[in-house]
Amino acid sequence: MKNRLTLPRPDDWHLHLRDGAVLRAVLPETARHFARAIVMPNLVPPVVTAQDASAYRQRIVDALPDGMDFTPLMTLYLTEETDPEDVAAAHASGLVTAVKLYPAGATTNSASGVRDFDKVRGVLDRMAEIGMPLCVHGEVTEADIDIFDREAVFIERVLDPIRRATPGLRVVMEHITTIDGVEYVKANDRDLGATITTHHLVINRNDILVGGIKPHYYCLPVAKREEHRLALRAAATGGDARFFLGTDSAPHTDPNKESACGCAGCFTATNTLSILAHVFENENALDHLEGFVSRHGPAFYGLPVNDTTITLIRGTPVSYPEKLQTDDGPVTVFDPGFPLVWQVESPTGKSPS
Ligand code: NCD
Ligand code: ZN
Repeated sequence: MKNRLTLPRPDDWHLHLRDGAVLRAVLPETARHFARAIVMPNLVPPVVTAQDASAYRQRIVDALPDGMDFTPLMTLYLTEETDPEDVAAAHASGLVTAVKLYPAGATTNSASGVRDFDKVRGVLDRMAEIGMPLCVHGEVTEADIDIFDREAVFIERVLDPIRRATPGLRVVMEHITTIDGVEYVKANDRDLGATITTHHLVINRNDILVGGIKPHYYCLPVAKREEHRLALRAAATGGDARFFLGTDSAPHTDPNKESACGCAGCFTATNTLSILAHVFENENALDHLEGFVSRHGPAFYGLPVNDTTITLIRGTPVSYPEKLQTDDGPVTVFDPGFPLVWQVESPTGKSPS
């Protein structure tokens, strides 16, 4: 049995860092283990222009504790007013890595998202021309579509038509949660990839609803039936380079989660690598962990693999704090429901106690 695993430093290809007090608290949780992350733009108000992205990037850099090395890869929130030239210039300068498409109303802070896809045609065409990836929250929002079907319907009604109309557009299906998502990626060419979260490899919809409602397991897209979780595990651990880690770690303070109308989002930044090592080990796929967390993402985004490393060690049970304290209130850390035995060796070479 393997007890030590050294990997190129991982990246997180879908992350919510928020702003202000929560940003200051959650950023070290990611920067401790990850070299880079695709930072989601769904602030209030959202990060829409290159100027917004530049200011937000500076706030992230300012919030990074001394001695931590971390590169935020910025995204722009696509609206019906987005200017193709602003996007292209922000990409050319290296400020912005990708554009994020939220269908209006799909999830937290998505009111400014896209309603009429014809209105963003110019931006998508320009992105295809310059090879800039589009990150997609793949759920329709029509009231008559059941929440558990929204990803599958999005693929058929929105994503496939967009891709056919925009040849060469590079698309990341973010946080896929269904067999339909896995199969759509597998049936397509190099211009399509998908991120998979840590929590969707661990929980299914029963975990949210059986024996009492568990607000800290509620996220969007919502976890589906067990057969979907198993398909995600096969995709993530199978070594296919089109699938890579995007944690979608999405902190909300406890009062906002534990409420009559609780926010969507699981906060997984703190213990993601321990959980993933457990999942890959259970699938007899520890050899594929490196591809999923360190190699497939950079390959899709055309970026170098990180030249520093981290080491995971298997040992006695590892515990993480149940909550991360922030000046805005506590944020509950995702509970995988099983003991963790893999931990990241600290930079000094010693395991953190
Ligand atoms: C995200 C958030 O809280 O910003 N929530 C979530 O459940 N994943 C938004 C998102 O990515 O859908
Ligand atoms: Zn997200």
